[in-house]
Amino acid sequence: MNRSLVSRRLELFPVTTQINDGELCISGLSLKDLAQEFGTPLYIYDQATLDGCLDEYRVALRASFPGRSGVTYAGKAFLCLAIAQWARWQGLWLDCTGAGELAIAQAAGVERNKIVVHGVSKSQSDLEAARAAAGTIVVDHLAELKKLAALKLTGGGAFPSVWLRLRPGLAVETHHYTQTGQPDSKFGMSPAEIKLAVQLCRSSGLGLTGIHFHQGSHFHDPAPVEPAIEAALDLLAELEAQFGWFPQTFCPGGGWGVPYHEDDLPHLSISDYVSLIGRTLMQGCQRRSLPLPALQLEPGRSLVARAGVAVYRVEAVKQTAHRRWLLLDGGLADNSRPALYNARYTCLPVHAQERLAGESAWLAGPFCESGDILVEALPLPEVQAGEYIAVPVSGAYQLSMGSNYNGARRPAVIWLNQGKINLIQRREALDDLLRRDLPLTFPDPRRAV
Ligand SMILES: Cc1ncc(COP(=O)(O)O)c(C=O)c1O
Repeated sequence: MNRSLVSRRLELFPVTTQINDGELCISGLSLKDLAQEFGTPLYIYDQATLDGCLDEYRVALRASFPGRSGVTYAGKAFLCLAIAQWARWQGLWLDCTGAGELAIAQAAGVERNKIVVHGVSKSQSDLEAARAAAGTIVVDHLAELKKLAALKLTGGGAFPSVWLRLRPGLAVETHHYTQTGQPDSKFGMSPAEIKLAVQLCRSSGLGLTGIHFHQGSHFHDPAPVEPAIEAALDLLAELEAQFGWFPQTFCPGGGWGVPYHEDDLPHLSISDYVSLIGRTLMQGCQRRSLPLPALQLEPGRSLVARAGVAVYRVEAVKQTAHRRWLLLDGGLADNSRPALYNARYTCLPVHAQERLAGESAWLAGPFCESGDILVEALPLPEVQAGEYIAVPVSGAYQLSMGSNYNGARRPAVIWLNQGKINLIQRREALDDLLRRDLPLTFPDPRRAV
């Protein structure tokens, strides 16, 4: 494989990635050594890359928006105790979906006023958990708002602030499974419903402080965000005139995409995306003589995806009529994105990347599905069974959507920072597969007739 192709693939890996004597290293540590120590599939997170992506958000916000601004990490991209602790250490707000993610945020000690609870169909117990632990609840629809108003009546103490989720009627360009802003989306409220919601908040004494929308996940062209901000500001101007209400906080969600494959390069930067939002909101408020709300962004993928790398062992190499298959020890159960969204990945061998390229390779996992294919038709050197392969951009929506399919045990996850290794999630053991199970009792085995 020629050097320029290897370099382009390296651009997708964490910022601390280097090749030392033909060995792929992150944070100065050899992936081969890490794979041998912790086993495979192995997920690696590089803190320097996480910190760098967040800095890019913060610098761009300060440069493009004169008002107060902040970043919420959308935990759905990947949440575990260590990531929630990192978010807390960084002073981020944390977006939790439901009582489960909320429990992780609490275990990490994230302050109440930095916890935002989302969800399109929050159960009563989700709402009760949010009431007990969150600073903000983002209300998806009117029935939920009524449930929340009823909950407020059932006891004293601090009650979370309320934001309303607007359905802006404009989606971003992405896979249709991850579009959320379109007129017929299951998420959020129409402008007319938002007006009713403002009245309901008033009459029930709920503390309404914010407006939110999210147009979809993994988009690469920020253009559709501009008309959505304008549409939201038109609505806010009406709400101010009609009810004298204007939000303290304006949140245009998250969703900024990342390059997964060398063919996705070059990719617009986080700064380009953030600057467009900052400018549009500021100028839109000026044009309508509206006050400037605080701007809160809510990225998930663009903060954590590049920081994560998945390392697999090649168990076997198989040649069929038209394909060279590399059969790996992980796939669908730890990364369902190719099967779910036709997501396209690339990879590098952890050793001797510049060996001569062989025929294009197809990388598949061990699961009983023909759709368990991680990488399709990728130029790759001749790779032998027993070698390790590293898949970049594996930090978002992989482990968080993982499963125990075919009895797969969830992978170990390690955190690298300046050459130091922390195991942040141990590999599941066989016992974990039976942790929730309770036996049935049968009489003596039936005899075959
Ligand atoms: C409400 C909300 N905010 C933020 C996000 C984060 O999106 P992403 O990880 O693509 O940045 C999502 C994901 O779909 C979401 O639903």
